[in-house]
Amino acid sequence: MADHVIAIDQGTTSTRAIVFDAHGLPVATAQREHEQIFPRAGRVEHDPVEIWTNTQWVLARALNQAGLNAADVAAIGVTNQRETAVVWDRRTGRPVHNAIVWQDTRTQPRIDELIAAHGVDAFAEQTGLPLATYFSASKVGWILDNVDGARAAAEAGDLLFGTTDTWVVWNLTGGRDGGIHVTDVSNASRTLLMDLRTLAWSEELLGVWGIPRAMMPEIRSSSEVVGEVQLPGVLRGVPIAGILGDQQAATFGQAAFEAGESKNTYGTGNFLLVGTGTEIVRSGAGLITTVAYRLGDEPARYALEGSIAVTGSLVQWLRDNLGIIRRSEEVETLAASVADNGGAYFVPAFSGLFAPYWRPDARGALVGLTRYVTKAHIARAALESTAFQTRDVIEAVVADTGQGLAELRVDGGMTRNDALMQFQADILGLPVVRPEIVETTALGAAYAAGLAVGVWPGLDALRAQWREDVRFEPRMAEEERERRYRLWKKAVSKSLDWVD
Ligand code: G3P
Repeated sequence: MADHVIAIDQGTTSTRAIVFDAHGLPVATAQREHEQIFPRAGRVEHDPVEIWTNTQWVLARALNQAGLNAADVAAIGVTNQRETAVVWDRRTGRPVHNAIVWQDTRTQPRIDELIAAHGVDAFAEQTGLPLATYFSASKVGWILDNVDGARAAAEAGDLLFGTTDTWVVWNLTGGRDGGIHVTDVSNASRTLLMDLRTLAWSEELLGVWGIPRAMMPEIRSSSEVVGEVQLPGVLRGVPIAGILGDQQAATFGQAAFEAGESKNTYGTGNFLLVGTGTEIVRSGAGLITTVAYRLGDEPARYALEGSIAVTGSLVQWLRDNLGIIRRSEEVETLAASVADNGGAYFVPAFSGLFAPYWRPDARGALVGLTRYVTKAHIARAALESTAFQTRDVIEAVVADTGQGLAELRVDGGMTRNDALMQFQADILGLPVVRPEIVETTALGAAYAAGLAVGVWPGLDALRAQWREDVRFEPRMAEEERERRYRLWKKAVSKSLDWVD
């Protein structure tokens, strides 16, 4: 019987396929990293063809590992790194440029022009977002302005735009031979092109960026059948029944469906989402407003989000750029080899600072150094920056909602690090709760797809599957917590003061 669901998680550093059974338990996983292309400072690209090749590979491998075939699979859910923009030719299926990744800041000059003319919040009422390079719109505009012939081809209806969910689904459903060109509301809400209230592309915003309407995907709900797999061989005919941006998927996978429920995911960056139900809540404290999910024809659910650009990717940077560790996992032991940060504070403002500061001009700062400081202290300061940045975001949540959180549900790769989770609880003064399944991003996409085809009857069934694994209670004395946080804020002020 078809009661398994496969989630494809097309993330910033890798693509994964995870097969879940009807209890929401992972039974097979396959993963493949793709190249991070840095053509020059501030630019970050991915090769969409490599991503698509990896998607096919992980799907086949996970299915094979699980010992299943297409008849066992009820549906596929797709989740993805958000905002990253792909533009391709619908006739050839070839991208006209590498994907421009969410971290890429090449469009800052254009963003600055618009901010100077209209203010940073010019489109916040419509989109819930500030003007920033982070979101897709300026990236699409850049491709149309800089790739020879792209604008004319787009105007002639030959080019398609999509975030990576759209790219993957279009290819899965037949590509240039009739591929389906869709995205979901949660991804669309990250483009700076969708009106949050109508859940439709805004003609005004398409006009601002000079993006022809014809290249935009159709916006669908997060949980409905959008098409069937048309690949030769594996999975042919299986419905694609769910699409969610990865942070919204993690929220869904944590069963945080209702207003006031939240989660914090520790990936290449950190993303904290707090549900606001059917209400669109505007932030006065540096959070953004986004779609959380929409199930079929039901009203959309919204969330406030605190996006932090650099957390896990700082560990990669220690490995690749400083060479103080050889493998990412070593950071944990290196950091644990010293009792504290030795006075060092590390603000990883590599793409400026996102929430709650939204300062593209901020730059990384490593402060408090003395001759005493070793690479172990630097590793520790790097890990601690994840916890401090999360506190910054939680302070914003409290300011916006007037309510503190009772606890913080966490997920993502870095949450396996117990010492970091303990430090997180200490710095927040809140319990930090890690569920049994920390692969909540993939689980959320599987849930969205499984709900649409009846593998699960409704949200209560999903809630019943969520199980706490470890609860980290705060142990640090209040005075010490506040002392460290004060020093962190001082370090942030150095990063904000830096002028090129
Ligand atoms: O907004 C960017 C976010 O979706 C990226 O997530 O987990 O791929 O770093 P991740």
